[in-house]
Amino acid sequence: MEAKTSDPEPKFSHGALVPRGFALRKASPNVNHPSVTPELDDLFSFLRFSSISTDSRHAGDVRACAEWLTAKLTSMGLATELHETPKHPVVIARNVHVEGRRNVLIYGHYDVQPVDPLELWTSDPFKPEIRDGRIWARGSADNKGQMLAHVLGVEKTLRENQGLPVNLIFLFEGEEEIGSPNLASFLVHHRDELRCDVIAISDTGMVAPGVPTLGYGLRGLACCEAILRGPKGDLHSGLFGGAVANPATAIARLVASMHELNGRVAIDGFYDDVRPLENWERKMWSRVPGVEDADLLKVTGSPGLFGEPGYTATERVWARPTAEVNGIGGGYQGEGSKTVIPAEAFVKLSFRLVPDQNPRQIMNRVTDFLQRHCPPGVEIEVRPGHDGKPYITDPNSKYGLAAQTALRTAFDAEPVLIREGGSIPIVQTFREILGADTLLLGLALPDAQIHAPNENFPVENFEAGIRLNQALLGELAR
Ligand code: BES
Ligand code: MN
Repeated sequence: MEAKTSDPEPKFSHGALVPRGFALRKASPNVNHPSVTPELDDLFSFLRFSSISTDSRHAGDVRACAEWLTAKLTSMGLATELHETPKHPVVIARNVHVEGRRNVLIYGHYDVQPVDPLELWTSDPFKPEIRDGRIWARGSADNKGQMLAHVLGVEKTLRENQGLPVNLIFLFEGEEEIGSPNLASFLVHHRDELRCDVIAISDTGMVAPGVPTLGYGLRGLACCEAILRGPKGDLHSGLFGGAVANPATAIARLVASMHELNGRVAIDGFYDDVRPLENWERKMWSRVPGVEDADLLKVTGSPGLFGEPGYTATERVWARPTAEVNGIGGGYQGEGSKTVIPAEAFVKLSFRLVPDQNPRQIMNRVTDFLQRHCPPGVEIEVRPGHDGKPYITDPNSKYGLAAQTALRTAFDAEPVLIREGGSIPIVQTFREILGADTLLLGLALPDAQIHAPNENFPVENFEAGIRLNQALLGELAR
């Protein structure tokens, strides 16, 4: 099946940035890999759908992707249903359930982030290519490559063992990258058929190549936007400069007031409910490879590290909350100078949260703080955005130990136990609605470039992920 597009513009301009030979390859994107396996062939088909959930022009591509997935799961002999939601479909598939066996739910998302800035991609984000042992495409790591490793691990087990040792439920959504707005109510409506003992998700990271990684925590999230309004329209800065407040200056002051100079968040009560790091975690993390300051400097390309005092950079990412500016603007953005006082300015903010912070309560505190610190002469509007709760579980629970064994088997190395800086808000919702905890079996490398140009996923991790899922089904059945 080919990816259809509803986008009137060409997705990739075949200009100077396109590498030589690219145009020849695009008709048949697999020929550049000498020994394409059926597994890679499936992954390439999956990756060719531009299933960008946030962009309504791609709604048809998201649906076509869900339909491809439904056909794939059906072909494996699973009872598969495509469920409509107010936006993008949910796909459910299950094997024959046998009374008394363990019930395992595997979740993934088939939607992807937008691809801009397109000119920074070496190859077309929706025409996957293999270079240097990695698959390059939007969604290769987040989450299609990791998700398909679940599917193909199950397919292989079904084929080799004429069945699965557990009652399996696949739950795949197309709205994760927009905050899963319809999934919680879907869970409530299908609570009985989704009942499970444990959940497995490969939608996180692996600390370094060949180092199997079990995640036992995720940060939460609270997003908002603040708009500062000054004069009724843009003003000549010579005629009125000095007489009225400048909204762009005011937003800079406001944003600066959110942090102390040393990097600590200055919002009142922000740290009140933060669960302190445990000593055993700090000790354990100090031995995890791939997450030292030098590694972070290399993977980010940043000239220096910066953040809350008293913690290592990795501790700050995995177990401390943050306040971030994701976008800021207002006033003249064009070439040269323009002497103007902008009528308004905006900032887009997000807060990464850790146990036991509550996103709604944090958003109230943030709104209150921004209103109280808004400089004189402008008006402020704070618009709350989507949010998600943080998550933490015991990596050495019965199921956690089963996951560690499966990781050891698949990678032939000792797993490390980490928390994740990123967010998958549905994980805590799963616990609240389905009563099950989640095993985070990350396969993306630190330089996977998720959400950015040149997203990539090693072929070797895809193959290890398939083995991991085979091993996991066996371990969870015990
Ligand atoms: N898979 C990521 C989250 C992730 C990546 C967690 C790597 C841990 C390690 C997920 O698709 C994602 O990007 N989530 C968003 C939140 C969502 C509500 C938009 C995020 O973390 O910003
Ligand atoms: Mn993801």
